[in-house]
Amino acid sequence: MKTIGVIGAGQMGSGIAQVAAVSGYSVLLYDAFPGVAAKALSRIQAGLEKQVDKGRMTLAACDAAVAAITVADTLEQAAQAELVVEAAIEKAELKKELFAALDKAAGPDTILASNTSSISLTEIASATGRADKVIGMHFFNPAPVMKLVEVIKGYSTSQDTIDAIMAVVEKMGKISVLALDKAGFIVNRALDPMLNEAIFMLEEGVGTVEDIDNAMKYGCNHPMGPLALTDLIGLDVILAVMEVLYREYGDSKYRPAPLLRKMVRAGKLGKKTGEGFYKY
Ligand code: CAA
Repeated sequence: MKTIGVIGAGQMGSGIAQVAAVSGYSVLLYDAFPGVAAKALSRIQAGLEKQVDKGRMTLAACDAAVAAITVADTLEQAAQAELVVEAAIEKAELKKELFAALDKAAGPDTILASNTSSISLTEIASATGRADKVIGMHFFNPAPVMKLVEVIKGYSTSQDTIDAIMAVVEKMGKISVLALDKAGFIVNRALDPMLNEAIFMLEEGVGTVEDIDNAMKYGCNHPMGPLALTDLIGLDVILAVMEVLYREYGDSKYRPAPLLRKMVRAGKLGKKTGEGFYKY
């Protein structure tokens, strides 16, 4: 594989594009909103230049990675790759529409991957005529830093597709784990109920934002507290995952915290909107 298309140039899409370019792939970066992919490319360049300043990357490697990323004007252009990774927002209908369009535009051997954190891979694959070549590649935020990629096997994903993606993950210098297509996969099924519980505790007044975060940071050695992490990931993303867990398993332990729902309705989505549990 030489070229990777990335659909969606938000937090995750731009992080994935950066990881792919630094690992030696040519990248076609597309976002449905005009100008977003070009802005993401500038952000990637600024981030890589900081790595150069810190002496962690050579200027030549930085320039090569930036030059490897092309902003694609259309989805069809971004589909001209051996692998396309979709990182659009967590809406099943939107992802299915995107995969149907990618299925039409891409060559017959192209693997279509989704960075979905909660939506069924099998459902996404059903929008295509190549379910054996549809797979989950779930990166973690911030993608350039976090080592893990969860590889998700849908109902029809072939072993050849899994092997090809495992090789890409290895070339990216990341660790892969294989998970079945069950809601939340491995990480979000364990992590998000903990984040949701922290929000319940805040609502009940068990502790302040700072105390809840410090408790988990210093009591459990987590790199950041659960409320700060929810701000980083996005409250809308956590709510979407909790809704899927609640619906799919039908267990009240996955009920989203009312405060989480209220803050999403208020547009307080965390770092990306300038305010969540903290102000940025
Ligand atoms: N993009 C690129 N690099 C970033 C970054 C970003 N957004 N944020 C931090 N970094 C880099 C910094 O540049 C720094 O790099 P150097 O060491 O090369 O200088 C390094 O990460 C450490 O950053 P900081 O010193 O600023 O801060 P830190 O040591 O507190 O680390 C952190 C920041 C990596 C985010 C760390 O706090 C952490 O690991 N937090 C937990 C993150 C986590 O759990 N992510 C998974 C979320 S779940 C998910 O994403 C799945 C889903 O579907 C919801």
